[in-house]
Amino acid sequence: MSIITATSRAHRIDRRIYGQFAEHLGRGIYEGLWVGEQNEIPHKNGLRTDAIAALREIKVPVVRWPGGCFADEYHWLGGVGPAEDRRAMVNTHWGGVVDPNTFGTHEYFELLHQLDAEAYVNGNVGSGSVAEMQDWVEYMTLDKHTPMAELRRAHGREQPWKLQFFGVGNESWGCGGNMLPLHYANLYRQYQTFVRDYGDSHVAKVACGANADDYEWTDVLMARAAGHMDALSLHYYTLPTGEWDVKGAALSFDDAAWYDTIHRTRQMDTLLRRHGEIMDRHDPARRVGLFVDEWGTWYDVEQGTNPGFLFQQNTMRDAIVAAVNFHIFHRHAARVRMTNIAQMVNVLQAMLLTDGPRLLKTPTFHAFGMYVDHQDADFVETVDDAGRPGSRGAAHLDHTISVKDDVYTVSAVNWDLETDAELVLRLPERVAEVVSARMLHAAASAHNTFDEPDAVTPVDFTGTVVEGSGLRLALPPRSIVTVRVRAG
Ligand code: AHR
Repeated sequence: MSIITATSRAHRIDRRIYGQFAEHLGRGIYEGLWVGEQNEIPHKNGLRTDAIAALREIKVPVVRWPGGCFADEYHWLGGVGPAEDRRAMVNTHWGGVVDPNTFGTHEYFELLHQLDAEAYVNGNVGSGSVAEMQDWVEYMTLDKHTPMAELRRAHGREQPWKLQFFGVGNESWGCGGNMLPLHYANLYRQYQTFVRDYGDSHVAKVACGANADDYEWTDVLMARAAGHMDALSLHYYTLPTGEWDVKGAALSFDDAAWYDTIHRTRQMDTLLRRHGEIMDRHDPARRVGLFVDEWGTWYDVEQGTNPGFLFQQNTMRDAIVAAVNFHIFHRHAARVRMTNIAQMVNVLQAMLLTDGPRLLKTPTFHAFGMYVDHQDADFVETVDDAGRPGSRGAAHLDHTISVKDDVYTVSAVNWDLETDAELVLRLPERVAEVVSARMLHAAASAHNTFDEPDAVTPVDFTGTVVEGSGLRLALPPRSIVTVRVRAG
C-alpha cells in the first residue's frame, strides 16, 4: 500500500466551485423554490422556507439563472413589474409549458438575498438584442436617474443590486443559436461591449464555452476574444451509457453502469486539463477563469413524469459522482474558479426534491454538505511513495486535502462496490486533534424518498487513526468520508 504524503499548499479553492444552477425548467423554480405569496406552503416573500433553510446549510455561493437553453429565449422585461402585468411565455425547450413569469429579476435577487449568494445572470444572445441586454444590465446595476433605473425603482427596488457575473449567451453552439465558433466569437465581442460597469459596479463577463471535448471552440474563443472576457464556460454531463437516446436509469442500474458512470464522470479531469492547456497557450497568466457552469448526471427521466421536466431520482452513485468531481475541480482550481451543478432543485442531479409541500435532501446534497469546509481553503498537493503527484493510492480510491487556518480538511471517496479501502496519509504537521469526522455510506442505489427522507444521510465516522502527523482512514465500499484535523 502506498503512503500519500501531503506536500505544499497550492492554489485557493474558490468557494464558487460549489455553485448552483437554477433554470426555468420543470419544477426547478416554480414549486422547487418559488411558491408565490398566496401559498399555504410556508414561504418568505414567495420563496419556500424549507428549501432556503436547506440550501443555506450547504453555503451556496452563487446561483446561475435563468438558463440554460431558457436564457436565449428569455426576455427579461416580461418578468418585472406587478404580477398581474407579467408576460407569460411558452417554455419551448422544456415541455412547452407556459411560464407565468412570476419569478423574474426581483424574485431572483430576493432568492440570492435569502441564500446570501452571488448573482450569475445569463443573458440572451440567441434571440435577444444588444439593446435588450444593455437595458437589463442597466436595470440591475445603475444608480442614476435613467429610464431603466427609474423603471426598477417604479417596481419597488431603489438601490441597484450587485451583479457579480454575467453570461453572454448559453450553448451558442447548440440551443443558443447553433453558431460556429468564429461567428459566436464576433457576437460575443459585440454584445459584451454593452455589458457596462456603472459606478462601483463590476460585472465579470462570461463567454459561452465548449460542449465537452470541442477543443476547437475553446481555441477560437481564446484566440479571438480572450481579451474581452473574465471567464469562459464549459458544459459536460455524465451519462451512464454515453448515449443521449438511452442514457440509463437513475435508480435501477447494475454494477457495470455504476463503474461506467464513475468512469465517464472522471473524464472531467481530461477535459479540464486539455481545455486548460489551450487556455494556457493564449493566457499563460491565467487571468481568464474556466467556469464549468453545467455539470452532473443526466439520466432517463423518472417514469410517468413529463420528459421535458428532466426530473430524476438521486442515489449514492450521484453523491460519489459529485465528490469525484469536487476532487477534480480542486486539482484544477488554479484555472477553474466556478462550477454550477445542474440543477439546484427537482431537475437533473438536484440537491433537493419536492412533492408539493414535502421536501427531501438528496445524497448529492449531503456530498455538498460534507465538502463545505473546502470552500476558500488552500488546496494541498500530495505525492505517493514513488513521488507521483496526485496519485490516488488505489484504483477506486481518491482523496483531496485543503487547509484553512490550522485545520486540514481531508475528504476521501471509495467507489469500489465490494471492497474496503485504507487511505494512509502523512500531513505536513503533527495532528493535535480530530475536529470532526463524517461519512456518507449506503447501498449503490440507496436514495431518499418522501416517506424515508433520511435513508441516505451522513453519520459519524469512526474509522480514523491518528499517529503523529499520520492519518489512517478505513473506508467501507461506496463511501465518502470527510475528516477535519487541527494541526499543532
Ligand atoms: O441543464 C439542462 C440543459 O442542459 C440546459 O438548459 C442546457 O444549457 C444544457 O443543454
